[in-house]
Amino acid sequence: MTADRPPQDPPASAGAGSPGPAAAAALSGPGPAKGGPRARVLAITSGKGGVGKTFISANLAAALARRGDRVLVLDADLGLANLDVALNLAPTATLHDVFNDRFTLDEAILPAPGGFSVLLAGSGLVEYSRLTADVRDKLTAVIDAVAPRYDWVLLDTGAGISDVVLYAVSLATEVLLVTSPEPTALTDAYATLKVLATQQQRRRIRMVINQVLRSGEGRAICAQLQLVADRYVSPTLQPSGHLSLQLLGDIPTDASVREAVKRRALVMEMLPGCDAARALVTLASRLADDPA
Ligand SMILES: Nc1ncnc2c1ncn2[C@@H]1O[C@H](COP(=O)(O)OP(=O)(O)O)[C@@H](O)[C@H]1O
Ligand SMILES: [Mg+2]
Repeated sequence: MTADRPPQDPPASAGAGSPGPAAAAALSGPGPAKGGPRARVLAITSGKGGVGKTFISANLAAALARRGDRVLVLDADLGLANLDVALNLAPTATLHDVFNDRFTLDEAILPAPGGFSVLLAGSGLVEYSRLTADVRDKLTAVIDAVAPRYDWVLLDTGAGISDVVLYAVSLATEVLLVTSPEPTALTDAYATLKVLATQQQRRRIRMVINQVLRSGEGRAICAQLQLVADRYVSPTLQPSGHLSLQLLGDIPTDASVREAVKRRALVMEMLPGCDAARALVTLASRLADDPA
């Protein structure tokens, strides 16, 4: 077990670190984060798997942390978590242990290499791949408990439109939908944005087009998705409204990313001057400059 606190966390208060059954109760102490009482909670999601959500979550967190913000990344891919692998961390306590009251939230929040905090989830736990009332309540309590302590809470969700993924996304105030330019990924991105607009009344979804081959590709893809959404999604919305897709930016296909992933390191740390890392720095500043 580790009780280490991430260096960027606020100082411990009466509530922090004490054992207790309720996730929320275990973290009720510290004051509001810089700039407001609650973090911006951003779900990083996708239609298709393997498009770069985990890579973006971790490296965007590092880019935001470099700006001086307090950032927590929560591995919200509850059944097939792998943020621990990406960050080369071997947690003793995970989100599942917090759910089961085996560890407190403070014990499960770990410092990550990029200067941010992580709340990892164990992989291959079938019970968390289904959305039960218990999972729902506990995930909500955890996010409510951590939100006042950070400037950003990034939810690295699973892919697709299963109820557990959609529930995790529903807890976020903002959505970042990641896709690659491949037609299969675009089809799944479209299905996802349609569900988010119709079921969650999302009217603004940010897009990141990852693994582009030339600059400008992201803009064209986002414009194309916007056209389809204007035609087939916006007219069906209840209450009526308009779904607006906002391109946060694109990230080039970059051999440095594979190199960093292979070494289980952040590209922002290992090769900060590479094209993908520079794109992530731009994404972070656009996000920070564009409040929810
Ligand atoms: N911009 C990029 N350039 C090159 N390879 C990338 C890039 N983004 C992602 N990848 C590769 O795709 C793999 C899958 O990414 P990952 O973040 O695990 O996807 P997801 O979380 O969406 O399933 C990474 O391990 C990496 O090898
Ligand atoms: Mg992932």
